[in-house]
Amino acid sequence: MFKEAFFLAKDNEKRLKFIFFLMALRGVVKIIPYLILYLIILEIITPGMDIGKALASMTNVSINSILVLTACLAIVFILINVWDHYLGLFTMKSGHKICYDIRMDLGNKLRKLSLGFFTVKSTGELNTILSEYVSRIEMFISISAPYIFSAIASASTMLIFFLFLDWRMAIAAGSAIPLAIMAFTYVDKVAGRVTRKREESLRRTNSVIVEFIEGMPVIKIFNQVTQRFHKFKETMTDFRDKNVRAVVSVTVPSIILLTFTSLSIAIILPVGLYFYFDGTLPLSTFIFILITAPSFSDSLAQSLFGYLHSKSPEGQAIKNITEVMQEKPLYEPVADTGIKNFDIEFRGVSFSYDTESILHDINFKIPEKSVTALVGPSGSGKTTITSLIARFWDVDSGEVRIGGENIQEMKLDRLLSYISLVFQEVILFNDTVMENIRLGRKDATDEEVIAATKAARCHEFVNQLPEGYNTVIGEKGARLSGGEKQRISIARAILKDAPIIILDEATAFVDPENENIIQEAINHLTRGKTVLVIAHRLSTITHVDQTIVIENGKIVEQGTHEALIKKEGLYKRMWTAHNTALGWRVS
Ligand SMILES: Nc1ncnc2c1ncn2[C@@H]1O[C@H](COP(=O)(O)OP(=O)(O)OP(=O)(O)O)[C@@H](O)[C@H]1O
Ligand SMILES: [Mg+2]
Repeated sequence: MFKEAFFLAKDNEKRLKFIFFLMALRGVVKIIPYLILYLIILEIITPGMDIGKALASMTNVSINSILVLTACLAIVFILINVWDHYLGLFTMKSGHKICYDIRMDLGNKLRKLSLGFFTVKSTGELNTILSEYVSRIEMFISISAPYIFSAIASASTMLIFFLFLDWRMAIAAGSAIPLAIMAFTYVDKVAGRVTRKREESLRRTNSVIVEFIEGMPVIKIFNQVTQRFHKFKETMTDFRDKNVRAVVSVTVPSIILLTFTSLSIAIILPVGLYFYFDGTLPLSTFIFILITAPSFSDSLAQSLFGYLHSKSPEGQAIKNITEVMQEKPLYEPVADTGIKNFDIEFRGVSFSYDTESILHDINFKIPEKSVTALVGPSGSGKTTITSLIARFWDVDSGEVRIGGENIQEMKLDRLLSYISLVFQEVILFNDTVMENIRLGRKDATDEEVIAATKAARCHEFVNQLPEGYNTVIGEKGARLSGGEKQRISIARAILKDAPIIILDEATAFVDPENENIIQEAINHLTRGKTVLVIAHRLSTITHVDQTIVIENGKIVEQGTHEALIKKEGLYKRMWTAHNTALGWRVS
């Protein structure tokens, strides 16, 4: 667990080691007051004295020495407390710093993973990892681990000191350790099992919460509130029960463990008495060991308990974070050359999301500055083809090339700088209109943003928003219509001014006026670019340079509108169906 903590701390490894060292030192320093106490005892009871003499000689004790030692004791306590305060501050700050770095590392990692990763891990699960699990690491770094180190150092220093005073008493004090460790191993097994279940339940809980909130519109529309709430309640109940079980099931074993760690006192007393009456154990040593034994047991219990309590939850957190950190990012070359043109080419591309094959041996070429349309039934693989160009996923076999170069040999940032994507679904962030559009190019001036907005035919409706360009849209802001959102995303693409435009047309624009406005915006966006457009309304693509028809992940036809109509194949059938539907709309 400590090894993984160091792995996660990365550049902070030295800082972490320093904290652990300081805490171990803190554990050693903790016994200084006991040493002073020992000196005080020696002042009162000189070697060879028995209890009777010791009591009788109390009146002859050098008050001065005892006063000096007591003052030392007070000063040491003050120093230790001051040191504790600063050490606590330092470990807390370090914990926050290390966690900040871990969150940034995780964020950076997520940036470089393929979308595939996000379909395996739910939003709720990732949220748990980035917030709760990282916070647990912070607890581990700033509280549990230092505590464990300090306790282990205290217990060992005391044991060494006992050994130095009387080896037989040291063995008596240490004899509880194997028993405590045996009990510990047992508790550890029980705790491991119940906390694993609790963790699974926690992750499920977070997923259900996110799903419940995000899916609320759909849940309401389909009148599923009661059913969904039932699932919500079920998950919460399970989480509550797992939590309770996690606590209850370790209670009895923990008491057993505590008993074993306290056992050293029960052993020290009779053994000490025996050696004392035997005349081989000085009274001063006996009294000293008796006084320090509770603290020794305490440190022993603290180190074992500290480890036990942090091992499962914090170990789980470390394991999950490490898993994400070790996830393989998309391959990227160290350096790349530039490309000369923006032809797009698919060469024998096959692809599957999981095991089910989606695309089969796709071959086509889109010459620079030409327009290609992708058409085909729903689920045929059109969106998948476009996602491969932006490397949201990597191909299973074959190559996607831009300007003659395999896109896997390009740096990801450069590849993405060549492409503007306008998706079926528009994602808006909880920010102003201005900033949502500026996502297209972060260094664009306000004037450039406004020019792009005008070109995308958004200017008018943006001006009608309560605070114009400063209106917050997205998550909690103003609600926009589907067409308006689409135009915002076109404005972003216009602002980005990338040489390749990929358009995944929204299917649901029935309103002809909106349709015309969007078409105007698209015309502006695609002028002079290499364009790949997924079209659902065939009438908008009769003029394009070539149309590729996809069915079940294969190219079944390819050519101009006229050529395809003559073929009497799938395109022709789709065209007839489209016109019939238009006829319905007119009538
Ligand atoms: N993230 C994913 N994970 C697994 N399978 C997926 C994923 N995305 C799409 N698929 C599957 O791949 C196939 C092709 O989907 P794709 O989205 O490319 O279709 P499409 O042609 O764009 O359809 P539409 O016209 O409805 O947008 C479908 O069978 C779909 O279920
Ligand atoms: Mg699609």
